[in-house]
Amino acid sequence: MTVKISITPSGHSYDADPAQTVLQSALDAGFILPYGCRNGACGTCKGRILSGDFDLGDFQDKALTAEDRARGYALFCCAKPRTDLTIECREVGSLRDIPIRTLPCRVQKIERPAEDVSILYLKLPANERLQFLPGQYIDFLLKDGRRRSFSLANAPHDDEFLQLHIRHVPGGQFTDHVFGAMKERDILRLEGPLGSFYLREDEKSGKKPILLLAGGTGFAPIKAIVEHARHHRMERPMTLYWGARDRTGLYLDDLAQEWTKTIPGFKYVSVVSDNPSEDKWQGRIGLVHQAVMADLPDLSQHQVYACGAPGMIDAARRDFVGHCHLPDSEFFADSFTFAADSQPA
Ligand SMILES: Cc1cc2nc3c(=O)[nH]c(=O)nc-3n(C[C@H](O)[C@H](O)[C@H](O)COP(=O)(O)OP(=O)(O)OC[C@H]3O[C@@H](n4cnc5c(N)ncnc54)[C@H](O)[C@@H]3O)c2cc1C
Ligand code: FES
Repeated sequence: MTVKISITPSGHSYDADPAQTVLQSALDAGFILPYGCRNGACGTCKGRILSGDFDLGDFQDKALTAEDRARGYALFCCAKPRTDLTIECREVGSLRDIPIRTLPCRVQKIERPAEDVSILYLKLPANERLQFLPGQYIDFLLKDGRRRSFSLANAPHDDEFLQLHIRHVPGGQFTDHVFGAMKERDILRLEGPLGSFYLREDEKSGKKPILLLAGGTGFAPIKAIVEHARHHRMERPMTLYWGARDRTGLYLDDLAQEWTKTIPGFKYVSVVSDNPSEDKWQGRIGLVHQAVMADLPDLSQHQVYACGAPGMIDAARRDFVGHCHLPDSEFFADSFTFAADSQPA
């Protein structure tokens, strides 16, 4: 049995298997709805269901509050249709022609720019390239069926190796392996590209100045965006705010400093939240999104790309929209939620 899902305002519709989520059947039918974690944690896929019966599925309360539910909202990565549905959501046009693929890859090189950060360089099989947009991520497919998401740090033009920046989560199934037994030439399996976090280059974005907000390894997709913009000589001014607990968390600070010299209109502000006396940090201290608000109280003309821990993303969206006049539709984010607790073994 299939049911019909109609999307408003686009007027598109597709047949869906009730066993699949609204998001999955939309993606299978070639319609890209906004999404991030696909796991009920980040809230990016939230939209209203205007008519029909559905199961909300398993999700985290902070991603879909009781108030959201009362107003008819659901998370499309979790909700499954029981009958025909009409849903309200903005489709993401530019991803339509990019296929999502499952590929093996070889670990070519592992770098350790900080004690708890590894940079992996992955090589795809000969003659294979992964087409993607700057900012998107891949999932590693683990042997037990679990997945782990990591953002691509290389720009699409620079695709000899896929680059990932991985923070060690002590006790974490995958990152313990990366920081322990993983060695060069190991083979992994990945699926990608994924996510609707990518640099908007459409007419509507025009010449809007870009604010880039990174927390820790949230620098990875921001690096892909900056290197893409540089390669294509994009003229929009860019300002990067990179926050970390301490200076070692700014593990590619030299690279960001270099961008200020080589990319016209590029500014960089680094912010640490803890400042031990032995650190001799001369720069900004505090929460990175609050540093943005102090410097740029009016974000009404900006477009924001934010990536990092869920707490930072939620606070930035709330405060930039609530206090700095940023239109909600100009805030793009990937929230580094974690999957362990809600995935099947
Ligand atoms: C779209 C997306 C892109 C991502 N990109 C990156 C990236 O580029 N770089 C990166 O370093 N991370 C990234 N992440 C986060 C990363 O996927 C998770 O941290 C992942 O769960 C770690 O896998 P693991 O197997 O080591 O830990 P798990 O086995 O998943 O977790 C072990 C335990 O640690 C907790 N935990 C896991 N991750 C975190 C965390 N980040 N913070 C706090 N507690 C945690 C879990 O609750 C669990 O109890 C991304 C996440 C998403 C959704
Ligand atoms: S909550 Fe659905 S994509 Fe993150």
